[in-house]
Amino acid sequence: TPLVGLVGWRGMVGSVLMERMLAEKDFDLIEPVFFSTSQAGGEVPLLNGQKVTQSENTLLDANDIKALMRCDIILTCQGGDYTNEIFPQLRAAGWQGHWIDAASALRMKDDAVLILDPVNRPVIDKALAAGGKNWIGSNCTVSLMMMAMGGLVKADMVEWISAMTYQAASGAGAQNMRELLLQMGALRDSVATELADPSSWILDIDRKITETLRSSDFPKKNFRNTPLAGSLIPWIDVPVENGQTKEEWKGGAEFNKILGRPAFRTPGSIPIDGLCVRVGAMRCHSQGLTVKLKKDIPLKEIEAILANDNQWVKVVPNDREITERELSPAAVSGTLTVPIGRLHKMAMGPEYLGAFTVGDQLLWGAAEPLRRMLRILLD
Ligand code: HSE
Repeated sequence: TPLVGLVGWRGMVGSVLMERMLAEKDFDLIEPVFFSTSQAGGEVPLLNGQKVTQSENTLLDANDIKALMRCDIILTCQGGDYTNEIFPQLRAAGWQGHWIDAASALRMKDDAVLILDPVNRPVIDKALAAGGKNWIGSNCTVSLMMMAMGGLVKADMVEWISAMTYQAASGAGAQNMRELLLQMGALRDSVATELADPSSWILDIDRKITETLRSSDFPKKNFRNTPLAGSLIPWIDVPVENGQTKEEWKGGAEFNKILGRPAFRTPGSIPIDGLCVRVGAMRCHSQGLTVKLKKDIPLKEIEAILANDNQWVKVVPNDREITERELSPAAVSGTLTVPIGRLHKMAMGPEYLGAFTVGDQLLWGAAEPLRRMLRILLD
């Protein structure tokens, strides 16, 4: 049984990963070793109330290179700083194991493969056969878009995609999810009296809400002092080149790397660009897509190609009731389904496809590709 070191399993992505690994009985196939950066020597806690069978009953030190080197596989959700600190030391010391990582630190390295097997299993298999050992999860927005668009992408029918995103608070972290809820509560509390009185004036309510949003004691520390509830933030991550944010840049860079295509902005790559926006959703990222197809393909055919690509994508008919019911963060949260809907040819011409897709940022966007890579290695 392969020895699998788990690092960063207590954080948000890590916890979702543990839930999924329990649900899919991944622990039956491995010998897990739990590492901790802060609580080495402590007891391994129950996961979801369950005890996971293991030989090490205490938490090992996640900075102990010797202990890590005993692992056949290391699976980390600890974050980029940890990766930057530990990974080079492990390889320098001659460790030959497989490194599966959620963080972005190693993503653009030549020897790193971005893992999203329903979309790029051939790329993964080829790298495995060539002795590849570094398996990195992609950015959540990119993964979710590709799970939805896999059919058209694999059929090589896409010339370019513009993605306008509506990204959930979870992408910014657990503290941000809490802060979003505090903001919602603060807004509601500031007009509780008026809301209880049906004859109160809506413009009075609105004025108070705007005052609350702008007040200095509105809880907004984690969102860099910008309100999210009742508003939005059209900037995610640090600025990079060409007026893009890093989140927007990742769209193009990682999309092409996942497919094993030439690098973004070089000949043979597919241009992917758009604006990334934070909205007050909890853990589902949504995206409005404009897709330039290589040719005019009938809509029925497009729907069939998309729907048949993988078992998680779901084509939602472009109908009001079904869309309201099925194509929203509220409907998708906590599930592995990646719906894509609002499919229609746009006014720009028959090769222009409009689409809207939603996906759980913590599942297909983060944890699921990692545990599936583990399974691929165990096969
Ligand atoms: N960067 C993403 C976001 C989440 O801020 O929503 C992680 O990939």
